[in-house]
Amino acid sequence: MKNVVVIGSSGAIGKAFIDSYMKDDDVENIFSFSRTGLAVEDKKLHSFFIDIEDETSICDAAENIDKSSIDEIIVASGILHNKDFGPEKSIRDLNADNFLKVIKVNTIGPTIVGKYFIPLLNKKEKSVLAFLSARVGSISDNKTGGWYAYRASKTALNQIIKNFSIELRRTNPNAIIFGLQPGTVDSELSEPFKRNVKEGNLFTPEYSVLQLKNIIDTASPSDSGKLISWDGEEIQP
Ligand SMILES: NC(=O)c1ccc[n+]([C@@H]2O[C@H](COP(=O)([O-])OP(=O)(O)OC[C@H]3O[C@@H](n4cnc5c(N)ncnc54)[C@H](OP(=O)(O)O)[C@@H]3O)[C@@H](O)[C@H]2O)c1
Repeated sequence: MKNVVVIGSSGAIGKAFIDSYMKDDDVENIFSFSRTGLAVEDKKLHSFFIDIEDETSICDAAENIDKSSIDEIIVASGILHNKDFGPEKSIRDLNADNFLKVIKVNTIGPTIVGKYFIPLLNKKEKSVLAFLSARVGSISDNKTGGWYAYRASKTALNQIIKNFSIELRRTNPNAIIFGLQPGTVDSELSEPFKRNVKEGNLFTPEYSVLQLKNIIDTASPSDSGKLISWDGEEIQP
């Protein structure tokens, strides 16, 4: 039976992971972390607060886990825009404070999550730490420009994931640490850009999570450090 963790469980994709794990008979305990609590209750669901912009909060969050080892950790937090700013269309939109906010949530937060949660990963059997990343973090795939902070935050996250995977080869070779590209998913994050998405290319969170869980279930240590798309394609850096 598995113990699993979802960070960013109040978001569209995080919540779909929670729903999927609640229906999964192989899952015994779900540790759910978000700033805003979940409106669902389940005997295997344990919900806690986390603010991934605050290292103390991340450290405290990890201490809430009373199981000796965790089999799957999903980091589904992230930011593209908020009420104060959107992704930059041009150089003139660049703003240092907004850039820093995006880097804190999308890069530094997940990195510090690694610091406190990686030691909890199962060492005896396969374990997975999956970060929701994005294709736009790929430098070789960048054909349209724009979205400076978001792109850079995910590019840096992909580098951190690679670093984690190299370090874990020595300390926990059963662990798989990778980035997942969920496709374009109907959520708060994608809301302002949905109209630009071609018919049929906007996924429900449930469909995306079905695909991502299949990737997690079939992944092997040779996938560690990669960025893998919802359809199984490896996205080049
Ligand atoms: N949707 C897409 O099309 C798409 C495409 C590519 C990649 N992704 C990636 O997939 C991930 C999930 O996206 P989504 O579409 O599910 O977005 P979403 O519905 O907007 O969810 C984002 C989540 O991030 C959490 N969050 C933001 N700042 C936080 C903080 N300081 N501390 C803790 N939690 C924080 C939010 O929690 P609060 O409720 O507390 O704010 C929310 O749970 C993101 O990393 C995103 O970059 C999404």
